[in-house]
Amino acid sequence: MKNEKLKELLQEMTLKEKIFQLVQIPGRFFLENTEDTGTAVEDSLTPEELHLTGCTLSVYGAKDLRSIQEDCVKNHPHHIPILFMADIIHGYRTIYPMPLAQGAMFDDDLTEKLCAMAAEEMRLGGVHVTFAPMLDLVRDARWGRIMESTGEDPMLNCRLAKATVKGFRAGEDEEPGKQGVASCIKHFAAYGAAEAGRDYTNTEVSEHTLREYYLKSYKAAIDSGADMVMTSFNTLNGMPATGNRWLMKQVLRKEWGFDGVLISDWGAIGEMVNHGVCKDLREAAKLAIENGVDIDMCSLAYARNLEDLVLSGEVDEALVDESCMRVLKLKNKLGLFEDPYRGADAAAEETNILSAEHRALARRAVTESLVLLKNDGGKEKLLPLGKGEKLAFVGPYAQSRELHSMWAIAGREEDCISIRAAAEEAASEEGFAAEFAPGAGMTRREDLATDSQESAIEKVRHGSYEPALAPDAEAEKLLAEAVKAAGRADKVIVCIGEHRRMSGEGASRTDLTIPEPQMKLLESVYAVNKNIVTVVFGGRPLDLRKVCMYSKAVMFAWMPGTEGGHGILDVLTGKCDPSGALSVTMPYCVGQAPICYNHYSTGRAKPYDTEYPIFISAYIDTPTGPLFPFGYGLSYTEFAVSEVKLTTESAVRACGTLTKAEACITNKGEREGTAVVQLYIRDDVSSTIRPVKELKGYQRISLAPGETKKAVFEITEEMLAFVNANNEFAAEAGSFTVYIGLDSDTQNSAKFTLE
Ligand code: GLC
Repeated sequence: MKNEKLKELLQEMTLKEKIFQLVQIPGRFFLENTEDTGTAVEDSLTPEELHLTGCTLSVYGAKDLRSIQEDCVKNHPHHIPILFMADIIHGYRTIYPMPLAQGAMFDDDLTEKLCAMAAEEMRLGGVHVTFAPMLDLVRDARWGRIMESTGEDPMLNCRLAKATVKGFRAGEDEEPGKQGVASCIKHFAAYGAAEAGRDYTNTEVSEHTLREYYLKSYKAAIDSGADMVMTSFNTLNGMPATGNRWLMKQVLRKEWGFDGVLISDWGAIGEMVNHGVCKDLREAAKLAIENGVDIDMCSLAYARNLEDLVLSGEVDEALVDESCMRVLKLKNKLGLFEDPYRGADAAAEETNILSAEHRALARRAVTESLVLLKNDGGKEKLLPLGKGEKLAFVGPYAQSRELHSMWAIAGREEDCISIRAAAEEAASEEGFAAEFAPGAGMTRREDLATDSQESAIEKVRHGSYEPALAPDAEAEKLLAEAVKAAGRADKVIVCIGEHRRMSGEGASRTDLTIPEPQMKLLESVYAVNKNIVTVVFGGRPLDLRKVCMYSKAVMFAWMPGTEGGHGILDVLTGKCDPSGALSVTMPYCVGQAPICYNHYSTGRAKPYDTEYPIFISAYIDTPTGPLFPFGYGLSYTEFAVSEVKLTTESAVRACGTLTKAEACITNKGEREGTAVVQLYIRDDVSSTIRPVKELKGYQRISLAPGETKKAVFEITEEMLAFVNANNEFAAEAGSFTVYIGLDSDTQNSAKFTLE
């Protein structure tokens, strides 16, 4: 429909009809047995209001959504279609590795392909908008939603934000309205800086740090065509984000020129009453609409108060018109006025979803996201597994099919390939014998803070044969069986980690260790067999000190999704070389949180060679550095990186390339492998403090045994620019140190000066 037609439509609509385009209600107002992704909505709508509503969420499936849409279009006075939105964060039915694991792939192209696949599946399922990508920069492993982020680095987050939005838009530029889905980036803004790592708390972030770290990825996504922005639950510097004028009007709308739809998070408008900045829902509705929040997600503040606010003259109807027009334009951009069903196809949903091609793509993503943290033993390394070995796979994850994160709402356990299933398939081809014994439940009842987690884990127990919460008698028997199997094996693959409901929304932890029953299993196995490979699952960085102490090899699997078992066995057997690199720092222990590699220097940094540090910035009870740094990941082969060479060491300002940094990467081993080569830059002296290192480029380079390739990185003035004390984004003359290496700890560097 032409925009002029939209203006005519807006003029024909009553105030109530316009307001209800700004209302989003839970999917269960339309469909039974849908799982809410937020707090209970203590209200309901009349049938007439239901048909006026502009959008709903968390319902999917072509058959149901076509029927809902048919009813809404028929019964709406202007036959305006409803928008279907959902949290398709890392896959619709084919669930690929969670975003923090996608960060570990350092592979923009594969990330884009995964999102295009998700867009195809969710379109067939009738979904129009996905609440993704989540672009919150995160440095605190205590915060459960770290799993939804691509990590702690602004540049990695920006590149993957672009790849994700482009993937979801899949072909939109070629054939507008017919291809991808709309993306709603979240949570604006700085939600990942949650105080004490606890969800829904306050964040205090200086404008300088906001602009230098936290805001960049949202801007990158908007510049790449993101259609919507979601406000975050947290307060930011004294004001809830949802009512934060500086953030919404000054930054998002004025500075960035974003004219898309701004939606609140679930109930966040109403929560401004809890924050104490509004005395009631009416005041909250006023504050939100005045700050340009177009859609009220599930608080019903707009539905119950906006009409009266306009009629009483407290809110200008023009604000309602402005928001309503943004919603109508989004529906128009998606082609809904011409085709309200937009590709929802129950038959195709059955055939195309979870296809062999989609599974293969997800499987490849698993192999690229796995991070090999340890593989000791010189020539006797335990990995890759060898032919003719007797293996024991123990731990609850040896056979669990709960391999996707808590944010896989349309994903199904029964679709997941467990390690056991993959190992049984691979055994004959790879020539090994395998035994399986869970050995322990996921966790203990007392580890769970809330009933919902317990019921979720109980579901695992009753819903499948892995005992999630093994009562003591059963626990001892389970443990004994696993220890016996381990004693008979050449190598033991211990598959342990957090349960999927121990990370994600509302799942902050003060302890980063793996639940005690599983650690007891690891220690018990160690007593009978030292040849231990531990595969760790989790939605966050974990405290792996003991795991590393008891294991000769450690691989971090994150929450790998539908093809988890296949991908993990592909790497364990050496069919694929591990190439993942940490997208987030792995702390030594929870006491270091929050921690990141791109921190500022201090006046008393701990020099590398100090034996007895006092009066310097270090802990007296633990090391100061992490267990494993950002960007770290081993391969089955060994790479050498030559010294850094610069094409010029004295660069003059130019709009193009200032200088090029080069290093040669050589495969010193006998197996092919892929290295994630990373470029870091440090601004040695500047008008404000600057990070000790900043990621400014990365390349995945595959090498045959003995092969050498040159990694070349162009360095531009923009890469050196930063937000200075006057809030100007500019590069300053002076000395810069350029690093090229295989993780953020690299000291391999050269210097140049910018005139
Ligand atoms: C939740 C989450 C948000 C999600 C929304 C809709 O509370 O904070 O990420 O998109 O509600 O499910």
